[in-house]
Amino acid sequence: MARRDLLLALASGAAGAALFALLSRWAKRARRGHGAAWLKAEAGSGDRPRVALVAAGSVAAVKVPELATRLADELGAQVAVVLTGGGRFMTSSEIAGRYAREHFVAFEAALRAKRDVFLLEDCDEWEGYADVSVDPVVHIELRKWADVVLVAPCSANTLAKVALGLCDNLATCLLRAWDPDKPMLLAPAMNTVMWEHPSTLQHLRILEDRGCRIIAPTSKRLACGDVGRGALAPVDEILRTVQACSCPGLRGSGVGAWQRHGFQEWQPKEYTDTSAARP
Ligand SMILES: Cc1cc2nc3c(=O)[nH]c(=O)nc-3n(C[C@H](O)[C@H](O)[C@H](O)COP(=O)(O)O)c2cc1C
Repeated sequence: MARRDLLLALASGAAGAALFALLSRWAKRARRGHGAAWLKAEAGSGDRPRVALVAAGSVAAVKVPELATRLADELGAQVAVVLTGGGRFMTSSEIAGRYAREHFVAFEAALRAKRDVFLLEDCDEWEGYADVSVDPVVHIELRKWADVVLVAPCSANTLAKVALGLCDNLATCLLRAWDPDKPMLLAPAMNTVMWEHPSTLQHLRILEDRGCRIIAPTSKRLACGDVGRGALAPVDEILRTVQACSCPGLRGSGVGAWQRHGFQEWQPKEYTDTSAARP
């Protein structure tokens, strides 16, 4: 092949690859419904309950398509699904789509309709944020938008992060910035040994003391084959719990226990300057 032909072939190959990458990125975005513009558009639209559904990286996130669509269909809720990195993996077509095809197809259709179910991921915090005085901070807008936040499934990792106040992704920023007057529900799901680790009890106690409601996991044969406690609570039970506390106007029933106990402002410590005493 002549040098010119080789260069042409390489150039057209590279252009083809770039076009393919662009198209698949666009297709993926269209399928997943990225972007947070709807948050502003949907603000103040009607009196349907609004649920921020955080899905962390437990195996049980394969049930998120069912949970999200049933929240919309049976409770008439608008649902913003917030995925962690692990949650994204578990709710993918390869994993959740294979686990329960019908629920996954309904979920994808709901996302495409952009009416009842929306999807947010970490990139939605950062992509499109350019102008400090104009662009919304997604986790803050979401906090204002939602009536209730439900973490289902809540992985051991996200449970620990929320209890300790870590906020290194969209989900945990939302939970750290959560309005203390609004309900926060957590449905843990993890391996039995993770569940029985002493950290779990500590973290649950911290969160319950703050007014979070824990939807207890059940015992059964888990996806990993172990038998014991740690399975996500049944979807029916999660729906009932959300229904009980997601009506608009139910403010005041939230996680604000620390406020009722009296908010304690940090006071600067008085430091003694010892430099003057040094020779
Ligand atoms: C296949 C697989 C299954 C997992 N299942 C669980 C689980 O059921 N519960 C859990 O707490 N962690 C589980 N993990 C570990 C979490 O995904 C991991 O701790 C991750 O950091 C969670 O991050 P996130 O809380 O930000 O989603 C699993 C990991 C893998 C690879």
